[in-house]
Amino acid sequence: MEIMKRGALIVLEGCDRSGKTTQCQKVMSWLKQSNIESHFMRFPERSTTIGSLIGKYLECSAELEDHAIHLLFSANRWELLPDMKKLLGKGTNIIVDRYSYSGIAFSAAKPNMDLTWCQKSDSGLLKPDLVIFLDIDPTVAQTRGEYGVERYENLEMQKLVRSNYLKLKDETWKVVDASRSVEEVTRDVCQLVKEALDSKSLLTEIKQLT
Ligand code: TMP
Repeated sequence: MEIMKRGALIVLEGCDRSGKTTQCQKVMSWLKQSNIESHFMRFPERSTTIGSLIGKYLECSAELEDHAIHLLFSANRWELLPDMKKLLGKGTNIIVDRYSYSGIAFSAAKPNMDLTWCQKSDSGLLKPDLVIFLDIDPTVAQTRGEYGVERYENLEMQKLVRSNYLKLKDETWKVVDASRSVEEVTRDVCQLVKEALDSKSLLTEIKQLT
């Protein structure tokens, strides 16, 4: 009897202008062409009630205390956990543009925010099978285009975020040099996704973030 594989949870992370969204689109179209059942998600997911408040905060049209907004970002992931479990359970892979690591790296870049405290609210969420970190020096990333008007889109913040990201790196992380051309990065990203989809670990239960 053939044992059914669960879907893989694959996350793309990186500073602003690292190319995450472009690479997610590239991976999704490659998966579609290859007839591999996959679903795209992004965090924050601004379409929910919690997400719309996060959107207002990011657009600077609402102010929230630092711990409070951190918990809302986390709640936005918790509210989508049942959907994620359902998809993975029926064998659908999920490609995610930002996840808990953004939550921790951005919040902990603020003064008086403790990285370990920031990790706690996501404890119990699904642990990705693969995290692809699109690494780029924020000074180089900035030359790709002006930062927009959203909160956090400034060089000083992005440098702190990058150093926090690197503190979170574990055995599920693969670092990709995102300073290269879109095509070069896509080649590496698709290869990493392919390896994750071929992994025997998809025959075992998904782990949880601690
Ligand atoms: P994006 O929608 O362009 O990816 O931007 C979302 C912004 O929110 C980005 O600056 C990163 C930040 N963020 C957090 O601060 N905490 C989180 O948990 C997530 C997912 C994103």
